[in-house]
Amino acid sequence: MLDLACGDAAAAEHLPGLRYVGLDASAEMVKAAQLRGRTVVLGDLNDYEPSEPVAATTCFRAIYYAKDRTAFFRRVAEYTERKFVFDLNPRQYRVEDVCAEVRAAGFDQVELRPFFSPQRFSLPRSVASALYALERSGPVARLLLTMRFSYLCAAFRGRNT
Ligand SMILES: C[S@@+](CC[C@H](N)C(=O)[O-])C[C@H]1O[C@@H](n2cnc3c(N)ncnc32)[C@H](O)[C@@H]1O
Repeated sequence: MLDLACGDAAAAEHLPGLRYVGLDASAEMVKAAQLRGRTVVLGDLNDYEPSEPVAATTCFRAIYYAKDRTAFFRRVAEYTERKFVFDLNPRQYRVEDVCAEVRAAGFDQVELRPFFSPQRFSLPRSVASALYALERSGPVARLLLTMRFSYLCAAFRGRNT
């Protein structure tokens, strides 16, 4: 999998068993990721193309670095065989527009899930469980998303696995 704007590649620790390659535009971040023993490339997500197709691409807390979102999604769809996962702030973007752009880029479907877990620190188990339940609460989750939190978006070809 290719992790665009990977930062120090901390996400790789949560993805055992996957062949992970990161990309980041900051030389300091690339160095930090390499010190963690990760394979990371210095580059810009706006024009990067891996040397061979990848099964999955992720882009967390960084979709806003795409200068031309439509072109970015098209480029990702060209080299991603199965799945593209990213997070989306619904107060910053019109979710329907972004989903339409992702489908137009070549993915068959897009699924959205409210995502309430903090991305920078861990919570006590009880708080994490409560947030997890709230993510699945339908209308309450949608109301909370008008004030805070993000969606996790999975664009995919074939079945969502
Ligand atoms: C908020 S951090 C997110 C890091 C990681 N994805 C995470 O969720 O912890 C944003 C990262 O995007 C990188 N970045 C900014 N512009 C970029 C670009 N055009 N191409 C690739 N990486 C970029 C920054 O260097 C930074 O490491």
